[in-house]
Amino acid sequence: MRILFVCLGNICRSPTAEAVLRHKLNEAGLAGRIEVDSAGTGDWHVGKPPDHRTQMAARQRGYELSMLRGRQVSAEDFSRFDLILAMDGSNLSHLRRLHPGTGTVELDLLLRRYQLALDDVPDPYYGGAEGFEQVLDLIEQACDALLIELKGRL
Ligand code: 4NP
Repeated sequence: MRILFVCLGNICRSPTAEAVLRHKLNEAGLAGRIEVDSAGTGDWHVGKPPDHRTQMAARQRGYELSMLRGRQVSAEDFSRFDLILAMDGSNLSHLRRLHPGTGTVELDLLLRRYQLALDDVPDPYYGGAEGFEQVLDLIEQACDALLIELKGRL
């Protein structure tokens, strides 16, 4: 099974989700059975490592993001991945416009799928340090629920 997380820049929210889910899959002994990746709808940060504020906040919770590099969503992603989870409604709308309409990929909003308090992971890029903590809080909660779903589907 293959899962892709998508945000706008692929330097804050979706690489965080990629690292958090990978960490949880490792802990659960499922890393070899599920492939995880992330991408951005925009192309400004292609080839760049995650935002340093994102890396620092994540590292304090035990997630290492320094090896990740930004990439943009491509048409092939819709045939390669089984589940594409967007960080906010704008990302999801963008994905729906790109989706070729064939295949079996499922597109959804990460937080709404698990009925968390918010539908969108707020974009932390132009805000303060607390925004990066909120991103981690929301994504950790969602990935706990996603892991339960994945265990049921395997
Ligand atoms: P992300 O955050 O979508 O969570 O990676 C952003 C990163 C960069 C920009 C916007 C959001 N930007 O405008 O460059």
